[in-house]
This record gives sequence, C-alpha cells and structure tokens, in this order.
Amino acid sequence: MARPHIEPFVELNEGYKKFKIPGFIGAEFKTMSLDTDKGACTLKVRFNGGFKRPPGLSYSDLEIFILTGEMHIGGEVCKEGHFLFVPAGVALGATEVPDGCEALLFYNDSEPTFEESDANHELALKEGFVSVNAYEDMPWAGGSIVSPSVATGLFLKLLRFDPLTEAMTFLYCMSPQYIQDNISYHDCAEESYHIWGSSWMMQFGELPTGGYFWRPPYINHGSFRSKLGCIALGRTDSKLHNYFHFNPWSNPEENQSRAAAVLYRQRPQLFRWVQMADGHNHPHGVVGQVETSKPPRDFEFVDYGDHPQTKLLADQNYSFHEHDHLHKDEIAAAHKFAHENGIAHGHDHTSGDHTHDDDEY
Ligand SMILES: [Fe+2]
Repeated sequence: MARPHIEPFVELNEGYKKFKIPGFIGAEFKTMSLDTDKGACTLKVRFNGGFKRPPGLSYSDLEIFILTGEMHIGGEVCKEGHFLFVPAGVALGATEVPDGCEALLFYNDSEPTFEESDANHELALKEGFVSVNAYEDMPWAGGSIVSPSVATGLFLKLLRFDPLTEAMTFLYCMSPQYIQDNISYHDCAEESYHIWGSSWMMQFGELPTGGYFWRPPYINHGSFRSKLGCIALGRTDSKLHNYFHFNPWSNPEENQSRAAAVLYRQRPQLFRWVQMADGHNHPHGVVGQVETSKPPRDFEFVDYGDHPQTKLLADQNYSFHEHDHLHKDEIAAAHKFAHENGIAHGHDHTSGDHTHDDDEY
C-alpha cells in the first residue's frame, strides 16, 4: 500500500513524539505521511539543543530540509534553507545541534534507520549526494519547467532531479495574488510543505504555514489562488505532467483513463505496446486498467477516437513481430538450440503454442 492521500494536513496543530530508535534519541517527530508497508515516510523533526550523533548512514535515500536553527554535519554548518539529498548508504559526518533545530526528513525507501559508520557502504550511489542552501545558493527560476505549465507567478529552485525516474525535489513560491484557473492532476504522487504563507485550492481550501499534503496520482487539484504568496518545499516521485481541465466532478479513475487517452493520441505505437500487456505478451503488466478494445475514455473529448488523424495514427501497425512470422522455422530452431545449450533467451510469442511456465531470461 502506497501512502494514502493526506490533504490538507496542518502539522502545527499536532504534538511531537519522542524518538526511541538508535541515532535519534534526543529528537522528536511528527509523522506527516507514511507508507505502512515499506515504512517510507515524511517527518517533521525537532532536534533538541545538545543533540549529537557520530558519523553514520541509513539504508534509505534520505532528504533533509532545515526549517529553523542550525545543524552541524561533519563540520559544515547547515542553516535554515539547507537541503541535503543523502543516497542510501552514504555516510554523513558527525552531527551536532548546539541550539536546537527543526527539519523535514524524507525517508524515501524505508523506515528511519541509523547505523554508525564513517565510510560509505560499498554499493552507495554517492554521486547522487546533494548539499545546498536553497535560500542562499540558488537563483529563482520560472516555474515553467514542464509543458503544459503552471500559470506565471510561480517560481522554483530545482534542488534534486533523478535522471532515471524524473522525481524532483524543489523549493517553490507563489507570488502574491497568484491565480491559476484550471484543474490539474498528474501521473506522479505530489507532496508539499508550506514553509511560510498560504495557498488555496478549490477542493482543499486554504493551506496555511505548516500545511502539508501527500497526494497520490490522478487526484484533481485546482483552481489555485494565493492572496499574499507562499514559499514551500515540493516533491514528486516520478515524471510530472500537467493534465489540465475544467471538470470539477471527474474522479481519479476517469482522470487516469483520460491520461491513457493522451498516450493513445500522442504516442499510439507505445500505447499499442502497452495494450499487449492486457492480452497475451510480455511484460506481464497490470491487467484490466485500460479497456483496450476501444480508445480509452476521455471525459473532455468523448469522440476523439473518431477523429481522422487519431484513427490514422492508431490504425498504423508497425509490427515488430512481423519478422517472427516470416522466419518462424529459424526462430523455433534457435529457441530449441538455446534450450538445449542453457542459453538465456526470450520466447517467440507469435506461435501461440507455448506457456509461461518455462520462461527464462
Ligand atoms: Fe500538482
């Protein structure tokens, strides 16, 4: 079970609990969101004055954002606005908090852990380490890093970008009197903490300082307003695409189907390949989420499947199995040879006379 939808949540209304696990004694936490299967979580943590711990690592990717006070890590003074991305297995230097500080801690893969170590784990992806003061060390950039984009008046600083998943962590702000009049949803989960100020969304009302949300994919949010502006820390867990529309009543299933319709229209050959997962072919994808006998429903453009250009693209069949059909005997021989000689291989999926019991790759 991934993390549930939590929105709106105002952490300033909640009390702290004391940590009882090694490496965290002397600190207190509030749970903002939690994956109850994996233990991945977002915490607001108060490190009380005098907190100390030796060098050490965790087995989860960890992100730290200092909200107030100072944290000294391996001799570096991390003041408010400091952001760290610490890949799993990367050892942080000895940590001291002389006068207390508050921070957001994001454990992306599993529950908080701490293992004393002054060296990185041998498998740690240490190149991914980030340490930057988001307030002082970076310029604001326009918020239009993806297209279609949010309305003008939103600015951001990209703190971390994962080249494989396109997950992002960014500081963002809305200018006073910010307005975006449409409704948005994404394929990714989205998370935000309001460091200062407030913003308003049609579905969730006013989110004040200390406001937080964890929003799974395909949930409508917007339109948006911010009367006096806000500054916030945002994160996504994969590629951010803005699906905009103006239907306040659509539900996540309808939004998901509309997103599939975008794929059907814009990348029909990829859609066709995904479609195979629903019938008989590898990969063993999620079955039944897209009704493949006809174009996925799009509540905004109900008849788009009949549009000549859509039909033209969707009906083109660049079969990468054509070769298999033409050379069936050769493929069968190669298959047999691979089996007899213990060679890893894929199966001919065009013959229709095999099962999946003996798949070997
Ligand atoms: Fe969003």
